[in-house]
Amino acid sequence: MSAPATEAAAPHGGAADVTFSVRNLWKVFGRNADKVVGTDLENADRDRIKEETGCTVAVRDVSFDVRPGEIFVVMGLSGSGKSTLIRCLTRLIEPTAGQVLLDGEDIGGAGPQRLRELRRHKMAMVFQHFGLLPNRRIIDNVAYGLEVRGVPRAERHERARRMIDMVGLGGYENSRPGELSGGMQQRVGLARALAVDPEVLLFDEPFSALDPLIRRDMQAEVSRLQRELDKTSVFITHDLQEALKLGDRIAIMRDGELVQVGTPEEVVGRPANAYVADFTSDVARTTVLTARWLVREPYPEERTDGPVTAPGTVLAEVLPMLAASTAPVRVVEGDTLLGYVGRDDVLRAIAEDQLDNAAAAAAIEEEASGEPSDGTVGHGPPENRGGTGGPAPTGEREVT
Ligand SMILES: Nc1ncnc2c1ncn2[C@@H]1O[C@H](COP(=O)(O)OP(=O)(O)OP(=O)(O)O)[C@@H](O)[C@H]1O
Ligand SMILES: [Mg+2]
Repeated sequence: MSAPATEAAAPHGGAADVTFSVRNLWKVFGRNADKVVGTDLENADRDRIKEETGCTVAVRDVSFDVRPGEIFVVMGLSGSGKSTLIRCLTRLIEPTAGQVLLDGEDIGGAGPQRLRELRRHKMAMVFQHFGLLPNRRIIDNVAYGLEVRGVPRAERHERARRMIDMVGLGGYENSRPGELSGGMQQRVGLARALAVDPEVLLFDEPFSALDPLIRRDMQAEVSRLQRELDKTSVFITHDLQEALKLGDRIAIMRDGELVQVGTPEEVVGRPANAYVADFTSDVARTTVLTARWLVREPYPEERTDGPVTAPGTVLAEVLPMLAASTAPVRVVEGDTLLGYVGRDDVLRAIAEDQLDNAAAAAAIEEEASGEPSDGTVGHGPPENRGGTGGPAPTGEREVT
């Protein structure tokens, strides 16, 4: 079993820089759930625990922080524990062990009254199967959370109308959910969640029932709303492309554990183990890795008058700049020159794509055959990579 990918512990109570702080969270389903955590069995694999106790370990010793304003994506295959994890955050499922802090407040210690308040005011959930009330008009579905809170009718309708406009459904206020397409119904679900103006939005595979084009629209919609409304989101998906598109950071789950937490670039460019490498092996690195990932000091004699680009530019967009210039691009953030990226650097990153696939395949094969694997394929951070050439960036300088 791999070691859990635990984030460096943030100081508890740091409400300003952490929205959710999850520490050593476990959820074990079954009658003998309390006979697993804290015993010798807790390190056994899922199958053995199931065999010996009849219990299912759905979430195993998971720790991570969600920062204010970010979209934190949790991804993993079916059964990896994603839904259980997100439900533990609001105690829709009661965790077996561990701690969840929301803005520094221990959710585990909240009484029923306080929990209700938190669920009504601070967080809102969007589910895969919309969960709309079929006999109510769209406007009353959207206003539902406000109604529960006791907001007067005129006020809640006014707010609901604004949210309906915001998700592009103006004109459908008086329709019933059954008259709307799946994509439109999910927009209603989104509007309903936003209507209560929650601090945190929790999404559990909200778009997996939608067809690809509508799904793409909805992803763009969530990105936009997140930016405009300054929310914090935890977003569950089993679709890697969706995770890469939406996630500021991505947590990859396997068999109840987090195997890696990182930015899209880190997950694709520096997979923590063979499993993650395999998971991400179909992704074209040039569409995820950015200039920042490859930036380096200039080589002696190298030209330093190349085109300028921002550190967040993906390599697919850096390539045409390099094709048009023999000098490496200058990577500039604000007034600061971070360093250079040349043709060779990008070519090497592309070539490693091919090598990665081969290395991942070999490691998976090794794992399957029971041979020990060192658990790492791919490479370390760029500065540790053999063959990248050139000195590592030593610091930041002013652009002259
Ligand atoms: N109420 C429950 N009682 C017993 N076992 C459960 C319960 N809910 C979930 N499980 C088990 O916990 C594990 C994790 O389930 P969970 O629903 O969290 O996975 P998931 O990652 O959300 O999967 P999916 O992508 O299919 O939605 C599975 O083995 C599942 O069978
Ligand atoms: Mg699920």
